[in-house]
Amino acid sequence: MSNQLEQIKALISLREKARIGGGQKKIDSQHAKGKYTARERINMLLDEGSFEEFDMFVTHRCHNFGIEKTTFLGDGIVTGYGTVDGRLVYVFAQDFTVFGGSLSESLALKICKVQDAALKNGAPIIGLNDSGGARIQEGVNALAGYTEIFQRNILASGVIPQISAIFGPCAGGAVYSPALTDFNIMRKGTSYMFLTGPTVVKSVLGEEISQEDLGGASVHASKSGVAHFAVDTEEEAISVIKELLSYMPQNNMEDSPVVECNDPINRLEDSLNEIIPDNPNKPYDVYKVIEAIVDNGKFLEVHADYAKNLVVGFARFNGKSVGIVANQPKVLAGVLDISSSRKGARFVRFCDAFNIPIVTLVDVPGFLPGSQQEYGAVILHGAKLLYAFGEATVPKITVVLRKAYGGAYCVMSSKHLRGDINYAWPGAEIAVMGPSGAIGVLYGKEMKEAADPKAFAAEKEKEYRDAFANPYNAAKYGYIDDVIEPRNTRFRIIRALQSTANKRLTNPAKKHDNLPL
Ligand code: HXC
Repeated sequence: MSNQLEQIKALISLREKARIGGGQKKIDSQHAKGKYTARERINMLLDEGSFEEFDMFVTHRCHNFGIEKTTFLGDGIVTGYGTVDGRLVYVFAQDFTVFGGSLSESLALKICKVQDAALKNGAPIIGLNDSGGARIQEGVNALAGYTEIFQRNILASGVIPQISAIFGPCAGGAVYSPALTDFNIMRKGTSYMFLTGPTVVKSVLGEEISQEDLGGASVHASKSGVAHFAVDTEEEAISVIKELLSYMPQNNMEDSPVVECNDPINRLEDSLNEIIPDNPNKPYDVYKVIEAIVDNGKFLEVHADYAKNLVVGFARFNGKSVGIVANQPKVLAGVLDISSSRKGARFVRFCDAFNIPIVTLVDVPGFLPGSQQEYGAVILHGAKLLYAFGEATVPKITVVLRKAYGGAYCVMSSKHLRGDINYAWPGAEIAVMGPSGAIGVLYGKEMKEAADPKAFAAEKEKEYRDAFANPYNAAKYGYIDDVIEPRNTRFRIIRALQSTANKRLTNPAKKHDNLPL
């Protein structure tokens, strides 16, 4: 055999060695836990045959606690690029079979390399996380490595989409990279995220809590909002990543891909003419409105289990991506509070950063009152949503379906926050506050003195309703561009989006803003 053939044979054998990571026993143990390996995950994510790997021959450089005696090619992470539905993405997948996927200096440099390449080449980056955290033997070099990754997450934010999936442990400072990315998908049962684990919680606070209850997927998807999606299987997580990508551009200088639309753009939806109950205090389901108006009823909801009083997610009109933000009258009457404001603000800012128009469906009785909300700084959190809508320069189309009261009217992409086209349904109620609250303030004294306070209140409420509980007051001032028949909503939104497709609007130049945090 010639020298060259010998060299090729050696290369192939090195590649084979790298591909089995920590060895077959570790791979079997990963499978026994119901988890896939890093390479299997990358294969599921990328188009077949598209993966180009980097740094397969990197090993750690640590000489502490005898770890120098053990090295693995690739050192606990698989990195590179490939395509998803034909579009370039960069990827890294932590390999739990090598030192539990723990992060060494060399491993961090591999992640930094793909982060740099993704930013330079304007393509999304996907991180598949499954790691025991900082590699203990590496000391401060592991901390340095993490921080280099965080710095790159920060610089890439708003320039390229960054998506994280968590398939195993993610603890300590390691949580901050996923937290800095745009979307975080956790698998139920196998993944957890926390700053300090149950043992530390017990020793510091005396509180007994399981890993799952402290930082499992369901907890983060419903209580903390750290996770945008909680899924049952790794396959499901991968398919969420692919679907998310389909709504996004490659970077902030591009538009999202347009898909062919086979749903008639002038489709009338008669059901919407009867969806609002006669009783203004009765709820209805805003999902029904969303599904009725978007292309083929297809809606990818983000944060479905968190702050359900506000619904956010991606859909398409005439094949083009939009972000939908909608109050949900079925949950807490659609009121805005701390959690829903945070959720909405983050989503609106993502859409604005990536040139995705925003369609806002309004039915909101106001902000949630009370000491709990005030002590929790609802003022600041509400201001985040206000800020997000106000700074957004993408096309903003708003439809007031029913209530738009008080500060919540202002916040929900109103005309005054540079809403491009603001419509209302005929039953919309747009005023400073709801009738009963308003009557209490305006006629409190008279009500007490009235012979029949109930009848007096009813009469005054009717007066107030006739004057304010309609869209025409707002329309009179041009704050509402038109009052539309509900069944026409789809095509009116499509036309509005068409008319704003070439919108140009820039905010004043500044170093950066000072969002109320
Ligand atoms: C070095 C590690 C490691 C780590 C796991 N391993 N975590 N090696 N540093 N952080 C190794 C184990 O020694 C073992 O090696 C192999 O990975 C698999 O681990 P197991 O414990 O056998 O697996 P399992 O039972 O599934 O438990 C997984 C685990 C546990 C829950 C993640 O390993 C664990 O608690 N690890 C430590 C987690 C931790 O405290 N990390 C530091 C967080 S603080 P062998 O040779 O036996 O196969 C942090 C700070 C970052 O990350 C700050 C950034 C700013």
